[in-house]
Amino acid sequence: CGIVGYIGHREAFPIIIKGLKRLEYRGYDSAGIMLFDGESMKVAKTKGKVSDLEEKAKEISTNGFIGIGHTRWATHGVPNDVNSHPHVSNSGELAIIHNGIIENYEPLKQELIKRGYTFKSDTDTEVLVNLIEDVQKKHQLKLGKAVQVALNQVVGAYAICVFDTKKPDEIVAARLGSPLAIGIGEDEFFIASDASPFIEYTSNAIYLEDEEMAIVRRNKSIKVRKIKDDSLVAPYIQELQMNLEQIEKGGYEHFMLKEIYEQPSVIRDTYRGRLLANKGIIQMAGIEDNLEKFLNAERIIIVACGTSWHAGLVAEYIFEEFARIPVEVEYASEFRYRNPIIGPKDVVIAISQSGETADTLAAIKLAKERGAFVFGVCNVVGSSISRETHAGAYTHAGPEIGVASTKAFTTQITILTLISLRLAKAKGTMSNSDFHRYLQELEIIPEKVQEALQTNDVAKVIAEIYKDAPNCLYLGRGYNFPVALEGALKLKEISYIHAEGYPAAEMKHGPIALIDEKMPVVVIAPKQGHYDKVVSNIQEIKSRSGKIIAIVTKGDTQVRDLADHVIEIPDTIEALTPLLTTIPLQLLSYHIAVFRDCNVDQPRNLAKSVTVE
Ligand code: G6P
Repeated sequence: CGIVGYIGHREAFPIIIKGLKRLEYRGYDSAGIMLFDGESMKVAKTKGKVSDLEEKAKEISTNGFIGIGHTRWATHGVPNDVNSHPHVSNSGELAIIHNGIIENYEPLKQELIKRGYTFKSDTDTEVLVNLIEDVQKKHQLKLGKAVQVALNQVVGAYAICVFDTKKPDEIVAARLGSPLAIGIGEDEFFIASDASPFIEYTSNAIYLEDEEMAIVRRNKSIKVRKIKDDSLVAPYIQELQMNLEQIEKGGYEHFMLKEIYEQPSVIRDTYRGRLLANKGIIQMAGIEDNLEKFLNAERIIIVACGTSWHAGLVAEYIFEEFARIPVEVEYASEFRYRNPIIGPKDVVIAISQSGETADTLAAIKLAKERGAFVFGVCNVVGSSISRETHAGAYTHAGPEIGVASTKAFTTQITILTLISLRLAKAKGTMSNSDFHRYLQELEIIPEKVQEALQTNDVAKVIAEIYKDAPNCLYLGRGYNFPVALEGALKLKEISYIHAEGYPAAEMKHGPIALIDEKMPVVVIAPKQGHYDKVVSNIQEIKSRSGKIIAIVTKGDTQVRDLADHVIEIPDTIEALTPLLTTIPLQLLSYHIAVFRDCNVDQPRNLAKSVTVE
């Protein structure tokens, strides 16, 4: 979910609406706003998108210099008008917006019902706002104190903003497990889930830490306190690097397409200053400072979710081949709940675009408790995961807004390749000539990615042919097995076509039963790496009349003769092929989704940043 709050000298409504639109990638099944016009609270909320909220808000007066707004990704209660935020307390004096989940909401709710409270919605958030009210009334507390006492009774995760009509020049914000940034302008404050809603007004921001709350007042003051013991914290004001252009579409029809096309330049950004091919050097502060930890590691465990997990799978192949370190790749959500065997000799690499994924964050905490060294690979600077890990490396892909992850994936693979090369060098597990060959190749890989983007036209033609397919199979081997998984995930996410990724050879153990003349099968078949075996797999599909869409190396003739369609990518070293084979798969799903009239950037039911477990 996304939060935006404003207090200052401008009309709050336009600032909040614009900010919510920027945050819609975080969830968009309902939206709401509360404005205070000096006399009373005005609340509008609705199922649907922020644009629906704008429409709905025509029913209320939108004046006021203070307000809070929310765009939601439902956890408790279906997305409908009543369950949307803000939620108002029984007295009508308090309003709250909330990201996250209150786990013990049921007993708290029962207790409040006994005390005479009533509830309109099915949400945990409405419980929280009434709990705050109850605490406030019972102990005659000011808002900040009441929020604090209430939060100490809550189990779960949250980022909240609370407003009290009795203190109309103040917003109280708090976080535990869900991000909150406070933008500091001149005589005005912005509160948001990330900096994108306020970057055009100010580049000074405070990121609240877990278990911190902020009381933001119109008269320029901001106080940050620990929720647990009320101690004051000196807020650290950072200057943000992000600019507005970076988060706008720049002429592309969708963010996803823009982000696909940014890949040559962001891959270069990822290795800039880290890969010095001429000197034969790879350097990354986070690795150099902790080299011994990596070299002594008995094993590397990679934890991640979604697309980042797929990047982890590619990394498994790379690390094991280059640096000869055993690697396990785990879904963070499974790892954290299965009492894993892990200790001080393990190195954990947590991969996360957003740096906020709740399961990944929890896996990191568990690994730290067990004494492992935890290294983060994140895209969002200053994100929770980047702060929770012992060390890390940023991918520098720039803001990724499209919910379906694209450039984050290829930059994650890039940085993980750099890390494994650095370790291979230190361990002596790769010959010098190979090491240099990789460095040279990495340096020109952005040009090859650029060339791979020229597959856009053919991907579009193929997309039109298969846009109505009910199912699709993706096959790959070795380094391209994870790419098959990622290709299938992309298609599922944005076009809602059922798709499965499989190791090509495993096909005969099940999926082959699905193949008939209606079934498109995307086969990743670059000329390196088990090419002949993949060709045999293609023959197996062909003899069952499946439709073959093959991703091949430029100049390939053998697969061309067998396949219904081929998409050519430039030649490269086998371990780097995922950076190229991924590109046409991204484009293929993009065009299929567009042909199907799907909302490419904001697919149904998904969220960009999943801060609930
Ligand atoms: C969500 C997003 C995916 C992403 C996954 C992990 O499901 O929709 O695109 O891969 O979360 O996110 P992270 O930010 O940790 O990489």
